[in-house]
Amino acid sequence: MPFQDLNTIPGLLIFLVLVGAFFPRATSKSTIEPCSNSGTCSSLVGYTLYTDLKVSEVASLFAVDPISLLLANSIDISYPDVENHILPSQLFLKVPIPCSCIDGIRKSGGISYKTRPSDTLTAISAAVYGGLVSADQIKEANPDASLSDPSVISVGTKLNIPLPCTCFDNSDNNLPAIYMSYVVKGVDSLAGIAGRYSTTVNDLMNVNALGSMEIVEGDILAIPLSACASSFPKYASDYGLVVPNGSYAITSSHCVQCSCGPGSRNLYCTPASLAVSCSSMQCRNSNLMLGNVTTQQSSAGCNVTSCNYSGYVNGSISAMLSSTLQPRCPGTQQFPTLIAPPTVVPDLSFTPAPSPSEPGGFPSTNPSSTVPSSGAVLGFSPANGPSGSVSGSSSSFSLMNRLSCFPSMLVFCFVKLVLSIPL
Ligand SMILES: *[C@@H]1O[C@H](CO)[C@@H](O)[C@H](O)[C@H]1NC(C)=O
Ligand SMILES: *[C@@H]1O[C@H](CO)[C@@H](O)[C@H](O)[C@H]1NC(C)=O
Ligand SMILES: *[C@@H]1O[C@H](CO)[C@@H](O)[C@H](O)[C@H]1NC(C)=O
Ligand SMILES: *[C@@H]1O[C@H](CO)[C@@H](O)[C@H](O)[C@H]1NC(C)=O
Ligand SMILES: *[C@@H]1O[C@H](CO)[C@@H](O)[C@H](O)[C@H]1NC(C)=O
Repeated sequence: MPFQDLNTIPGLLIFLVLVGAFFPRATSKSTIEPCSNSGTCSSLVGYTLYTDLKVSEVASLFAVDPISLLLANSIDISYPDVENHILPSQLFLKVPIPCSCIDGIRKSGGISYKTRPSDTLTAISAAVYGGLVSADQIKEANPDASLSDPSVISVGTKLNIPLPCTCFDNSDNNLPAIYMSYVVKGVDSLAGIAGRYSTTVNDLMNVNALGSMEIVEGDILAIPLSACASSFPKYASDYGLVVPNGSYAITSSHCVQCSCGPGSRNLYCTPASLAVSCSSMQCRNSNLMLGNVTTQQSSAGCNVTSCNYSGYVNGSISAMLSSTLQPRCPGTQQFPTLIAPPTVVPDLSFTPAPSPSEPGGFPSTNPSSTVPSSGAVLGFSPANGPSGSVSGSSSSFSLMNRLSCFPSMLVFCFVKLVLSIPL
């Protein structure tokens, strides 16, 4: 039994095995975070395009601003008509979404999908949303729509789409972090994922409360990405902004652009390149603009004065002069490298092999074979999906909703921080 010694993992408080009666292919795991406040945090979902899509189309699937989507992936937004740029199928993107607390569990709020011809729950789950949400979760989030798979849903139905996300206080090992929900692919190993995202196997196991290194296609992991945290006041509308290392974010109504790294964990904000009509970005009682830094070498060290962005407050840009005495003067600010809008999937990459549209793409082993299986395996045919790109295992994860954790599915729930889940 792969998870039997979970109790020995530090930090793991509880492990729930929830066994249901009829769910097929019941092996996917997901990390859920119980919550009690109504606050949101910055988070990401990892998304692989199931077909060629415009930037604006991907953005609307996730109710995110296209410019934010591009900047989160360090894609240069100065290209003409960049929002209509067509991104290639199988491209992997980090999509920034606010992570809310809904029914006691962290998940996205406010994401919806308007159905198109021949959409089925399975297609929406596995293809359109790349396995980030299961068909059952969509069904549960839309009780009034009387949905049933594999029936085709009437065109134009607006469906709530709850996506998995975690906050974990935007920190990992006491350093600022942002968590990305990542759907495991057939070729993935924990070590490979850890290497790709500059974390460690140990950390991934702790964050996700894994009892073994075994991960399976369709599992959803929370991956901590090192980040720069903001320290805006609570009343700022962009309070809590966290930017992953190597990327950018846009804020203050597209007036301010912030970046993180390389080489520094300080969030660095400047006027945005596309700033049109913005309130003043100058620090009061100084001639410094947002992002300007002046230094003055003295016997005591380097007196660094900078004009720092400190949040979007009541519709205006808040800028604050800050002076610190540092042992050494800082070098010039470095920025994460921007890339041109991709037209091909980079080689280094995330293209699953074999392709999920081929029968070989389906997981053939059941890693939790000690779980009593019951009911017929109701696997669906990829031919039922749009353009045959349905991934077989994706529908088996279902944890977003506390209720859905219960009797309906044969699923493992991993709970890292269990404070008070009323069971
Ligand atoms: C940020 O990313 C760069 C590579 O892009 C890496 O060299 C650096 O160590 C990272 N910094 C942190 C704090 O993770
Ligand atoms: C101050 O910042 C503005 C806006 O980023 C920039 O155009 C200007 O060159 C900077 N001035 C100095 C002295 O760094
Ligand atoms: C640093 O420089 C600022 C502005 O030039 C000045 O107001 C401040 O007193 C200086 N601080 C120190 C410790 O020298
Ligand atoms: C202001 O920005 C500078 C340069 O990025 C940074 O070193 C400093 O810590 C910031 N100060 C505050 C109060 O955020
Ligand atoms: C924002 O505006 C409201 C009323 O318009 C005011 O009560 C509040 O003090 C303002 N907040 C800040 C931080 O200026």
